[in-house]
Amino acid sequence: MFATPPTTLHLISDMKFGATFTFLLSLISIALAVSFIVPGAVWTDTSGAKILAHGGHVMQVDNTFYWLGYGSAAGVVPNIYESTDLMNWEHVGFATDQVTGMYRPKFIYSGGKWYIWGQVNREIVTLVAPGSTLASTEYTLTGSPALLPPDSRSFSDMGVFVDDGGDAYFLSSADSNNLQINNIDGGSPITIGTRVADLEAAVEAPGMLKSDGVYFLVVSQKTGWAANPDKVYWATSIDGPWQGGTDIAPESTNTYGSQNSAELMIVGSSTTTYIFLGDIWDSTGSDASNYEWLPISVSTSSNTLTLQDYAMWTVNPSSGVIAFANFANTTFNAADGIVRGSAVIKKRAVHNIDSSSNVTFTNVIGKGDKQWVAFKYTVSNVTAGEAHVSVNGDAPINLSDLNSRAGYRSTIPVALALKEGANTLTFGTTATGGDFEAHLEGIEVFDDY
Ligand SMILES: *[C@@H]1O[C@H](CO)[C@@H](O)[C@H](O)[C@H]1NC(C)=O
Ligand SMILES: *[C@@H]1O[C@H](CO)[C@@H](O)[C@H](O)[C@H]1NC(C)=O
Ligand SMILES: *[C@@H]1O[C@H](CO)[C@@H](O)[C@H](O)[C@H]1NC(C)=O
Repeated sequence: MFATPPTTLHLISDMKFGATFTFLLSLISIALAVSFIVPGAVWTDTSGAKILAHGGHVMQVDNTFYWLGYGSAAGVVPNIYESTDLMNWEHVGFATDQVTGMYRPKFIYSGGKWYIWGQVNREIVTLVAPGSTLASTEYTLTGSPALLPPDSRSFSDMGVFVDDGGDAYFLSSADSNNLQINNIDGGSPITIGTRVADLEAAVEAPGMLKSDGVYFLVVSQKTGWAANPDKVYWATSIDGPWQGGTDIAPESTNTYGSQNSAELMIVGSSTTTYIFLGDIWDSTGSDASNYEWLPISVSTSSNTLTLQDYAMWTVNPSSGVIAFANFANTTFNAADGIVRGSAVIKKRAVHNIDSSSNVTFTNVIGKGDKQWVAFKYTVSNVTAGEAHVSVNGDAPINLSDLNSRAGYRSTIPVALALKEGANTLTFGTTATGGDFEAHLEGIEVFDDY
């Protein structure tokens, strides 16, 4: 059985799901199923469109996950997707046509109603769903835009946390330089309540999880759209004292190029799993931005959280167990490819792949559809060029257009449309500034997408 956080929320009086959800589930198309969570890759919904759900969170209700975030295509509007496996997402639609400019939307369930809170002009704006399901495209505006008690601060980024006992909290980057936590009061509609904590820290993008009685607050620093090392604070009571400020990932990786958006807890039959839901923003925070979801390892002895950096992974939503792809046996070692130009073979790898060199793999067996191909390579200077792949002689595609982590991590899975039977893949590079070369270990070809 699933433990669904909303069923324990004491703001909740009745949870009536049933017919509507069953109907929605039946709408999930049988398009090519996605079988891995691949941080940084371009994620598409079941219709093949890019998923637009930034600055959001995931809410589990019974066996279904609802991903709420914003897409700017329609003017920064809350956008809803649903899935039973966190990989294959059906687009429910934009939640409303009554508001634009709503950033970092979050679902809140109270008194039998589903609400969306989002940040519009640095104030809380409330939407309410017309019926008993959160999967609606007809949310309407309710209440009045609100500043934060007690001193009417405005805020930028916001998050929501529901405690085991059911108390719900609003997390915000208040007045630019404070991380403020307020109660969320029940009622119809819900309203922002008293302040319970105030950390004097210039941080943003807050999310929270609780494990073994310890509250962990995850925040980023403030560097615009550029990634920075996200930090972890902890406390044994939500009102503090808050301590810590440790890195959630090795500092030099800037949170593997991402910014926190929310934390997801899956209470499985075997284990409870926590997942970091992050955004990998492009330089302007556009819809071209991607996502970084990674399992979190929690230490309540050192009061730290650490991201588990997997290139391809899955979580079983009923057991909570994480599995990850093993890259131990690369399908093609680079040295077994056809090496052109001045590149140099060293053992099983090919070094010094510059703009006039490349490595070609023939006989890459495809299934006539999209499948993951992981490129294992490093570059001499990630800002001085791009690695690309050409499939069957077609125009080269930059790997960074297929996976935001290209150049930054050593295993880059990308979804390639391969024809049935033998394919030819050529790996090469383009230098944009000064010296740039890649060192290719090989490629791993997966049967699945
Ligand atoms: C590979 O490199 C050679 C030059 O060394 C070039 O002629 C050829 O067009 C390249 N192939 C691809 C697919 O980039
Ligand atoms: C790939 O990247 C190179 C180097 O930045 C750039 O010159 C080229 O236009 C890019 N190719 C595409 C198809 O965007
Ligand atoms: C990396 O490349 C960039 C862009 O060409 C350049 O400005 C920078 O100096 C390079 N870094 C190193 C360490 O060479």
